[in-house]
Amino acid sequence: MKQLKEQQLKENYLKLRQLITDTFSGERLERLNKMYDDLEDRVIVAPASGKEEYHYCHVGGYVEHILHVVDTARKMSDLFEVAGGSVDWSDEELVFAGLHHDLGKVGDLEQEHYIPQDNDWRVKNLGEIYIANTDIQNMRAPERGLFILQHYGVSCSLNETLGIKLADGLYDEANEYYLKVFDARRSLKNRLPYILHWADHMSTVAEYDEWKRDNQKESEKVQDSVSNIKQAVKTEAKNKFTESTDAKDIFNELFGEKKW
Ligand SMILES: [Fe+2]
Repeated sequence: MKQLKEQQLKENYLKLRQLITDTFSGERLERLNKMYDDLEDRVIVAPASGKEEYHYCHVGGYVEHILHVVDTARKMSDLFEVAGGSVDWSDEELVFAGLHHDLGKVGDLEQEHYIPQDNDWRVKNLGEIYIANTDIQNMRAPERGLFILQHYGVSCSLNETLGIKLADGLYDEANEYYLKVFDARRSLKNRLPYILHWADHMSTVAEYDEWKRDNQKESEKVQDSVSNIKQAVKTEAKNKFTESTDAKDIFNELFGEKKW
C-alpha cells in the first residue's frame, strides 16, 4: 500500500490550501479558510476510500484524490469543449465542486468517517484497511459534505451543489432521479455534474491502476528477495557439503579410514 512521507502529506495539503487561496476570494475564501483550519488535522490524513482495491486507501489519500479530480476535471472540461460541448460553468465552480465532492469522507463536525479496521483477518484477506465510523450519522458523502459547507456558511451555486451531489453518477442509485429522467425537459440544465462525474470516475480508475502497479512491483520485489534467499541457502548448503564431505570423507564415513 502507498505510504506518503510526512513531508509529502504536508506538501499536498499546502497545495490544496494554495489552490483555495488562488481560486476564491472575499467572504467565501474567509469561510473556507475557517473550515479548513478547523478540519485540518483530519483532512491531512484522511484516506480516499476504505478498501485497498478501491482507490487511494492510504493516509493522505483524500487530499491526493481531490487534487487529482480537480486536475482531471479541468482537462475533461477542455476536452468536452473540443468535442463540441458547451462550457456553461466557471473555473471557480469546477474547482469548488471538485475539491468538495468527497468532503463528507472527512467525517462530520466532530469525528472522522474512516476509522482503522482492527480485525486483522479482514485487513489481510479483504484489504479492508478502514471502516465507516458508525458513531456518526449514516449519510452519503456528498450530503454530509454539503452539510459541512452550510455549517461554515460557505455558499454554493446550483451548479456546484449538483456537481457535488451527482459526482458518483449512476453508481449512486439516489442520483437516478436527476440522471435517468427520460424527458429532455427534466434533464440537467448544466453540464458540470457530468464533467465532475467523468473526472472523478477516471481519477478513481487511474488511482486503482496506480495501486495495482505498485502492488505488482512490491510482490515482484518480495519474489526476488525470496528467490535470492533460496539461492543463498542452496549455495551455502552446497559449499558445506563439498567442504566437509568430499570423496575422502564419504569413503571414510562408509568404510573407515584406508589402512593400506
Ligand atoms: Fe471522489
